[in-house]
Parts: sequence; C-alpha cells; structure tokens
Amino acid sequence: MLKDLLIVKPVAPAPHVDAGEPVEGSLAGEAGLRRVLGARHLVLLGVGAIIGAGIFVMTGQAAAHHAGPAIILSFVLAGTACAFAGLCYAEFAAMIPVSGSAYSYTYATLGEALAWFVGWSLVLEYLFAASAVAVGWSAYTTSLMESVARMLGSEWTFPALFASAPLSYANGEFAATGALFNLPAVLVVGAVGVLCYVGIRQSATANAAIVAVKVVVILALIGFGAQYVDPENWVPFIPPNEGGDRFGWSGVLRAASIVFFAYIGFDAVSTAAQEAKNPQRDMPIGILGSLVVCTLLYIVVAAVLTGMLPYTELGTAKPVATALEAYPALGWLKFAIEIGAVAGLTSVILVMLMGQPRIFYAMAHDGLLPKFFGASHPRFHTPHRATVVVAVVAALLAAFFPLGMLGDLVSMGTLLAFATVCAGVLVLRRTRPDLPRPFRVPLAPVVCVLGTASCLALVGFMGWYNWALLGAWTLVGFAIYFGYGYRHSKLRRAR
Ligand code: ALA
Repeated sequence: MLKDLLIVKPVAPAPHVDAGEPVEGSLAGEAGLRRVLGARHLVLLGVGAIIGAGIFVMTGQAAAHHAGPAIILSFVLAGTACAFAGLCYAEFAAMIPVSGSAYSYTYATLGEALAWFVGWSLVLEYLFAASAVAVGWSAYTTSLMESVARMLGSEWTFPALFASAPLSYANGEFAATGALFNLPAVLVVGAVGVLCYVGIRQSATANAAIVAVKVVVILALIGFGAQYVDPENWVPFIPPNEGGDRFGWSGVLRAASIVFFAYIGFDAVSTAAQEAKNPQRDMPIGILGSLVVCTLLYIVVAAVLTGMLPYTELGTAKPVATALEAYPALGWLKFAIEIGAVAGLTSVILVMLMGQPRIFYAMAHDGLLPKFFGASHPRFHTPHRATVVVAVVAALLAAFFPLGMLGDLVSMGTLLAFATVCAGVLVLRRTRPDLPRPFRVPLAPVVCVLGTASCLALVGFMGWYNWALLGAWTLVGFAIYFGYGYRHSKLRRAR
C-alpha cells in the first residue's frame, strides 16, 4: 500500500524547443498555441498575477489588527519565504516545463498521494483565491461607483444589503454584517467564468496593458502619497502586544502570514512554461523577476500607507482609497486608484479561474479525478465542464464568505504547496541527479530547507481556527482520493 501511495510519474528530460513551435501535449484547443513568450512577457505575466487584493485590500486589516507600521517587516518576511520557494519553482519549471505546476512536480518526486495533496491544496490557491479577489474587487467597484455618482452630484451609495457577505470574520470569530450576500463579487466571477468557458486567453498584450495600469497607479500612490507621510505615524513601529497575535512580534508574524497572499501568483508563471520561447533560460527570469519587482513595490507602499494615516484607521475593505480620502487634494488619485484596482483585480480573477480547471484537467487525465473534469468543449476547446463547476463554487464562496477567511485558506493551501515544492527539489537531486538542470537553486540544501521551514512556519502563525479548517479540507481531500483517485490512477493501472 505504501509503495502504491509513493508511486512517482517518470520524468523525461525536457526536449529542446524552438521559438514558434506548436505546444505539445496541451489541452486540445490550446494546441494552436505557440512558443511566443519571452523573458519580458513572463515577468509581466507574473506581475499581472501577483498584484491584487493582497496589497489593495489585505494590507489594511493586517496593519490595523496585527502589525501596525511593522507591516513593512511582515512584507519582508513573507517576501523572503517566497524568494526561497521562487528559486525552487525556477529549478523545476526550467527542468520540467509542463503546465501542471506544483502538482506535476510533486507527482514526479514525492509520489502520488502527496501529489494529490498538493493538487487539492492548489484548489485553495486558485479557486478560493478567485473568490477572495472577487470580494476585494467588489469593495473597490462599489467605491468607484459611488465616486462617479458624487462627481455627478448625487449622494447615491451602493445598497449595503448586497455589498458584502452576511458574516465578517476575525480571529476565528464571526459577526453579522447585516448584509445578505456580495452581489458584485458574484457578478464578476460569473462574467469572468463565461470568458473562461468560451476560451478567451488574456493575450500577452492585454496583460501588459493591465499590468501597466496597475504599476502606474501604484507608482503614483508612492510618488504623491509620500508627500503626505507624517513620520509620527510610524511611532511606535511595532506597537506593544495586546494579547494573542494583536501587535508585538507575534502580530508581525501573523501579519506576514496574511500578506503572504499578496505574493501568490509568481508560481502561475510556471504554468506558461509550454508557451515560453526558451523556458530553460526564461522561466527563472520570469518567476524571480516578477517576485523582485512586487516585493520592492509592496514594501514601499506599506511604508507610504502607514505613514499617511495612523495604522488604526486602515482596517477597511479598501485601505488605499481610505488613506487617500483623508487628503482631499488627492481625490483625483483615489479615482485613478479605484480604476486601477478594479482592472488589476479582474486580471487576477481571470488568471485564477483559468488555472483551476486546467489543474483539474491534468488530474482527470492522470485518472485521479472523474473523466467529467477532463472533458474539453468540441468548439471552444476549453475544459468547459470543469470551468462551470469552478465558477459556480467560486461565486458561491464569494457571495457568502468574508475576505479574511477566504484569504487565510488561500495562503495556507499555497504555503503547503510551496513547502512541498522546496522539499521536492532536494528529493529529485538525489533520485535523478542525471536530469539536465538549466537552472540550479544555489546552495540547494540550505535554500530548500529554509524554504520548506519558512513556509511551514507561516502556516504555524495562522491560528488554531485556520488549522482546524485546513484539517477538515485535507480530510475531505483524502476521502475523495481513497474513494476515487487511488482506484482509478492511470499510473498504477499501467503497472
Ligand atoms: N497575489 C494575488 C493578490 O494579491 C493573489 O490578489
């Protein structure tokens, strides 16, 4: 039995590929895709997937309730854990450029049962993240609509009954909000789901345009906001602990586990491996380059936001807009930020809603999920059935669950996947030292061990209530695996 659970999918060295070659072995309808993405496109793809609700929304709650101005340190800590994981992803993505990402890497190194566990954790990363970002999108969209109404001289506000989930969630406790459900979040998931069904691909050009908007509004926030920074707001830098993970060092670490969400997405670059012109060289550049750009932006934005407004006032659903509201002279910038956030968050939802059905598709083709998830549409050539299931579940989650709860689950699932990938690099170095590695993690034993340890440590700072949710999620996952995947695995049947 143990041998069955540890069965690994053989890895073949990546064949040499040339720019413009059609993509082999991808989804039927994507066979028309070509190897067209260069290093610059891959960095932009990463930045497009990374910058989203983490910086535009979660920074505020994390600063107001856990870290104060030391949220800057939290970003450094979370960024460091991601840098270790990013190096490990880069080694895998250059060596095995397939689109299944962490799921495929684990199947090739640590065996089927752990691959299932990682695939199941990736549902938290992709499906739940789509919902979480949709909730953030909703806050900025309603704020934008209200700004437009004010410009037209009206005091209209979005009906509160349909503006958020019925419950809010903090420190493991729920509280009623008075709302019924989050209508804008449902609408955006539905609309993006339809796009995924008919097979829109965010072209590299469209992605570059959205990334430009996001980065320009963030640079404008830094440039103009910096003039209103009052250094008094940074004192005390680490507010004294008020018990549990409210402030003090335990608060800084808890905030690091929350803002880790802001970095998620650099691993999405690895899923474009089959479309990269020169994956061996450019995958590491794309993954690590996007991570460096975003880390720098996040640290500076965190400093500006906590400098503009006392941290206690940042705990809103749209903290960037809140900080700007305090300075009427920056009203125009608030409007621009709202537009940038709405456009930017939409592109993150698109990446997540496209990624999830493709992971289900890969798992179904390995026999670990029913064939239903491996079907592709005869005309649109998209994994249409998996897309419908994913969009419906994501819309329901976005309608009824608060951002904090969704965000923590997303971060935990992703951290577990990252920890496994870091361990997998070391395992494959031992089991297949012969495989050509165009990119090698420097000081691998140290970096991989630190990567696994720092990701698991961040899970450790999530709080018992989140571990309980994660435990329940994992149990459901293994029930499905032993009920279905274990018996239908193609790899085991082929033996
Ligand atoms: N990193 C992405 C975001 O912050 C998931 O929205």
